[in-house]
Amino acid sequence: MDIQVLTQYEKSALHERQPLPEEYLRLSDREMASRIGAARRTLGSRVVILGHHYQRDEVIAWADATGDSLKLAQFAASQASAETVIFCGVHFMAESADVLTAPHQRVILPDLAAGCSMADMAAIDQLEVAWEEMRTLGVTDVVPVTYINSTAAIKAFCGEHGGIVCTSSNAHRVMAWAWERADRLLMLPDQHLGRNTAFRMGVPLDRMVVWDPELPYGGLSADQLRAAKLILWKGHCSVHTRFTVQQIERFRQQHPNGRVIVHPECTHEVVQAADDSGSTEYIIRTVRNSPEGSVWAVGTEIHLVNRLANELAPTRTIVTLDAMGCLCSTMFRVSPNHLLWVLEGLVAGQVHNEIVVPEPTRTWAKVALDRMLQLP
Ligand code: 13P
Ligand code: SF4
Repeated sequence: MDIQVLTQYEKSALHERQPLPEEYLRLSDREMASRIGAARRTLGSRVVILGHHYQRDEVIAWADATGDSLKLAQFAASQASAETVIFCGVHFMAESADVLTAPHQRVILPDLAAGCSMADMAAIDQLEVAWEEMRTLGVTDVVPVTYINSTAAIKAFCGEHGGIVCTSSNAHRVMAWAWERADRLLMLPDQHLGRNTAFRMGVPLDRMVVWDPELPYGGLSADQLRAAKLILWKGHCSVHTRFTVQQIERFRQQHPNGRVIVHPECTHEVVQAADDSGSTEYIIRTVRNSPEGSVWAVGTEIHLVNRLANELAPTRTIVTLDAMGCLCSTMFRVSPNHLLWVLEGLVAGQVHNEIVVPEPTRTWAKVALDRMLQLP
């Protein structure tokens, strides 16, 4: 494998990642389900399985709790009894869970290669350079706000520099908190969540600038930075930026009374053209609570959309906004085979693919996460 083409997570995982043994690839669905059930019964309350809404059905079926990033982080922080949390999601979620659980609890990510391409778009050394460059330009009144879709190192930087973490469901509240403390925010890694949230809060687009970490000084002048209320890191989600305004127009032609709901990681144009936007949990709640007979186009990951469509048929019609269906390929890395392997490992006293956030990153990342969790 060419190391140049590996993501940050894959590179770190090369040293630690325990690959799925061959024998776990040859099982029938039936055998897998029966062995997962048996291991689960043996382990009892020693293990808790968390599942993000983008996980496939065969994994979600075993989750003790499902949710968006905020709900799962709150769950991890609040339950102190299970020895092991198996996080069926992606790397940054499992890292946050490790930071938020008690020292005697361990967190397992069934496949360590389940990363997030957006989180990879902000490396800690790039953030350190950006911070220094802003200071050189005399721009110091800045609070760093990181989306939870970021590495523990980025969260730790925010914790240490008076900043905070947000998720897609509390970005509004978190950004309001940050603007009470400084004239401007640096929001990373997702420019779209930052722009969409700030615009909704009344910040005009011309008070937002985009910091390109590949360019000296982010490609910005001191005057541009001083005039900005919001400095957006040039990062994005490759899944959600596939949704387009044309797809929304096509859906509206076919379903004039239909409604469109999208995730705020979509572009500003798409969020503006949709009827509503919000976190995965918000999307599910809104569609579930809609009147019978409603027709929805949903702009988020395909497993969530298909599951919701099956759950609510035939009383409501739910379609994906992108006819090709948007798959988050890293979420998809967690398979029932991986789940079985880590569960049977625990039964045998072996821990596979544990996530451990080292000190001092852990302490500072916890400061930033706790600031978010303590918001009213
Ligand atoms: P939610 O917190 O809305 O579930 O979003 C997580 C995510 O990665 C969306 O791409
Ligand atoms: Fe990351 Fe996008 Fe996948 Fe969410 S959907 S985990 S932001 S790559």
